[in-house]
Amino acid sequence: MKIKFFGHSCFKIESDYNFIVDPFLESNPIAKYEEDELKNLDYILVTHGHGDHLGDTLNISKKYGATVISNFEIINYLIMKGLEKGHPMHVGGRTTFDFGKLKMTNAIHGSGIIDNNTIIDGGNPGGFLIYIDGKKIYHAGDTGLTKDMELLERENIDIAMIPIGGNFVMDVEDAVLAVKMIKPKRVIPMHYNTWEIINADAISFKNKVESLKVKCEIMNPGDSIEI
Ligand code: NI
Ligand code: MN
Repeated sequence: MKIKFFGHSCFKIESDYNFIVDPFLESNPIAKYEEDELKNLDYILVTHGHGDHLGDTLNISKKYGATVISNFEIINYLIMKGLEKGHPMHVGGRTTFDFGKLKMTNAIHGSGIIDNNTIIDGGNPGGFLIYIDGKKIYHAGDTGLTKDMELLERENIDIAMIPIGGNFVMDVEDAVLAVKMIKPKRVIPMHYNTWEIINADAISFKNKVESLKVKCEIMNPGDSIEI
C-alpha cells in the first residue's frame, strides 16, 4: 500500500481501492499532485466542512465518480449541490465497506461550511480510522488534544496523520502528547506550513516522538511512502 501526500491534510491512499482524504487542492498554495492521480479514486473521505478539507470534493466526485464519505450533514449538503455518490456516517460509527472498514473518530474543532456569505452547519468534525489490507490508518482531521485519543491505543494503529500547526489545531507540544496516547507505529505530521499562521517545526516534532520510539515520516507535498 502506498500513501502519497498532496499537501496540508490531503493524502492519497493507494491499495486495491484508492482513497483521498480532505482534497484541498486547487486553492492550496503548497499542493503538489497530478490531475491523473485523481482519475482512479474510489472514495473521498472528508473530515469536516472547512474549506481547507472539503476543498475540491464535489468537483472530483462529479468528474471521476468517486464516492464521498463524511458526516450526515456534509453528505446531505453535497447532495443538495448535486453529489450523486455519497455515504453518510457519524462520529463513533463504524461500518463495513467493500475495501474493509471505516470508523469516524471524534475531533475537537468546528465544521461550518462557508457558502455565499453564510455559514452552513457542517455537523460534528471528525477523523477517520481506516482498516484496509490488514493495516490501520488514522487520519485525525483537524483537532485539539483530547483524552478520547486514549481510546485509539487499543487499535494498534500502523500509521497516524496528526495535525501540528497550532492556532486552529494541536501544536507540536500537544501533538506529542497525542502520540503518547495513541501509540501508533508511525506518525506523519500534517496541517502546518501551508500559511504563516500555522507554521510549525516538524523536525522538533520528529525528534520528540522518535524519543518515544515512534517513527516519524516528515512528508513534503508530492512525497510518497510504502506501508
Ligand atoms: Ni478545520
Ligand atoms: Mn483545517
